[in-house]
Amino acid sequence: MSGSLKTIQDEMARIALEIEKHDRAYYELDQPLITDAEYDALFRKLQRLEEQYPSLASPHSPTKRVGGKALEQFRKSKHGIPMLSLSNALNEEEWIAFDERLHRFLEATVDQQFEYLAELKFDGLSINLTYENGLLSRAATRGDGETGEDVTDNIKTIRSIPLKLRTANPPEKIEIRGEIVLPIEAFLALNRDQVERGEKTFANPRNAAAGSLRQLDSKITASRPLTGFFYGVGEVTGFTLPKTISAFEDLLETWGFSVGKQKRICVGSKSVIEFYREVEAMRDSLPFEIDGVVVKLNSFSAQQTAGFIARSPRSMIAFKFPPKKSVTLIEDIQVQVGRTGALTPVAIVSPVNVSGVMVKRATLHNQDEIDRKDIRIGDHVVIQRAGDVIPEVVEVLKEKRRGDERRFRIPDSCPVCGSSVTREPGEAVSRCSGRNCIAKLKERIKHFAQKDALNIEGLGDKIVDQWVDEGLVKHLHDLFELNYDDLVSLEGFADKSVRKILKAIDASRTPELYRLIFGLGIRHVGETTAKQLALHFKSMNRLINAGRDQLMEVDGVGDEMASSILAYFSNPEHREELEVLLPKLELIEPKPSEKAQIFEGKIFVLTGTLPNLGRSEAEKIIEDHGGKVSGSVSKKTTFVLAGEEAGSKLEKARSLGVPVIDEADFQALLRGH
Ligand code: IVH
Repeated sequence: MSGSLKTIQDEMARIALEIEKHDRAYYELDQPLITDAEYDALFRKLQRLEEQYPSLASPHSPTKRVGGKALEQFRKSKHGIPMLSLSNALNEEEWIAFDERLHRFLEATVDQQFEYLAELKFDGLSINLTYENGLLSRAATRGDGETGEDVTDNIKTIRSIPLKLRTANPPEKIEIRGEIVLPIEAFLALNRDQVERGEKTFANPRNAAAGSLRQLDSKITASRPLTGFFYGVGEVTGFTLPKTISAFEDLLETWGFSVGKQKRICVGSKSVIEFYREVEAMRDSLPFEIDGVVVKLNSFSAQQTAGFIARSPRSMIAFKFPPKKSVTLIEDIQVQVGRTGALTPVAIVSPVNVSGVMVKRATLHNQDEIDRKDIRIGDHVVIQRAGDVIPEVVEVLKEKRRGDERRFRIPDSCPVCGSSVTREPGEAVSRCSGRNCIAKLKERIKHFAQKDALNIEGLGDKIVDQWVDEGLVKHLHDLFELNYDDLVSLEGFADKSVRKILKAIDASRTPELYRLIFGLGIRHVGETTAKQLALHFKSMNRLINAGRDQLMEVDGVGDEMASSILAYFSNPEHREELEVLLPKLELIEPKPSEKAQIFEGKIFVLTGTLPNLGRSEAEKIIEDHGGKVSGSVSKKTTFVLAGEEAGSKLEKARSLGVPVIDEADFQALLRGH
């Protein structure tokens, strides 16, 4: 290299160092040393030099943080050491049970209290960073735990993540694990932007973080203020780790990583509970979301002795917080009419943020629930969101009443069609008795078109509402009679969109039998029962003509379900509808299975999220091979197939001694190992 080039390269390295110093001051210490304009000038200077002398540009230059060329797709990236998951404790008893189990496993006496590191459980997505000789060489998402997606370009845009470890003696190679999160403020701002641009909003900060990181165009990632917290280690070569995880995290901090500030070395299970309660109390004041604390045996060697169970370390646990609650005001109560005519009272509440999601409605279930909790319009209430389910009202703050709150009663006539509302003795639900209720029809069609039923792509709720309101669809089979001219004049439709939706409808004409059975929306018949019915009867006609005794032979069909199936098929309107619908479909009926029935007599319970297989996929494989899937763990269960975030079923399995397997074990069973 000529002397002058060397000078330029030195200059580039100097500016890079300068920028890194300012990044640290700004992102980690919150104490900028120069103005934004000065920083930008420095940054642009380096960019210009790199454009002029591309061969001198370092792959670890801070300019890489603004994102580069968009990718076609992510490359796969195999982790040096697999990324495992954690088992959960959902309350203090379960935490104590964990500590006791660990004592038994490590043959420790009760008075030998373990030293734990307790820290925040960041609610984001896990990431594996590989540094070689101190330089960030690869960043991968968790994926199935063995192999993730290479998101290096995107990770480089996150300024709080060091591109270079701040140490003179870096390991030859080290995998550093942590969590990428989007702070709550940034999440709310992002959603405001999305609304303005007419794009979909994110349900919560975790989804937004995942959506931001998994962008093929790293410029988009660069525009989202992601950050990361680091807490773990994978493969290491050429380096001796400290003896404890707490000392390792201290080291990470000196290397330039953000580690959670709230953490404590706790001796004994009581001390962990104290920390847990303290963190829970300050949870809402943190700028990012957490969903619990993670507790780890502090000593690496003790962790190793404890080993693993079903791909979770025995030495660590996610000690989760109960679902988040918020207080809001009931502005009104409205009634929704469902597919079977059920009237559900829904509280319209003042919009409130419940763990990162804006909630405007909460279900009140039925009249009995309203009466039991004495819920009135104008009441201040506590609402709760558990997982992804619709929020519900848990409690009324009666002390906040002013006397003008109004009681609510489900009306005697349907708010949509005006027909009378009936309530069967012994049932909590009131139903619209109208035969032609438009609300019912809309819900029936939405149910029929949904992904797990006929799977008509693109036929969303709004379109169904429109088609029913326009009188284009009065029965399920009308969907298959729609033509170009019917749709092209509708608002929101044009040539391309009409062709697309007609194509999607056409593509749905060959469903598997169970999809149609489920899609009909027979009361009490969910997807699982629909599959059982399809397997048992193997044809629609046989099912339609089945008597009570034949129905009761099917797994999972009891008296109530049999009655409801009989009622559905004896309804003349349903029979007429099926007479027209069936000839339009080409049903795929289950054949006597050709697959080896290796799971015959075996009962599986699924829990948590599997890394590769979707839940329905796993169920299908089990059923195709002669096995059964059950919803709850009992002594009869052969295997519990557990994935990430597995909950109480896992604990139950352990307490009953039912073997727990993960997806890899399951695949091995399938292959006959
Ligand atoms: S330790 C064997 N520490 O929670 C996995 N995980 O539910 C060891 N997480 O996959 C993980 N904060 O993505 C650990 N302080 C923390 C964490 C944490 C969040 C995530 C991580 C893990 C998931 C398990």
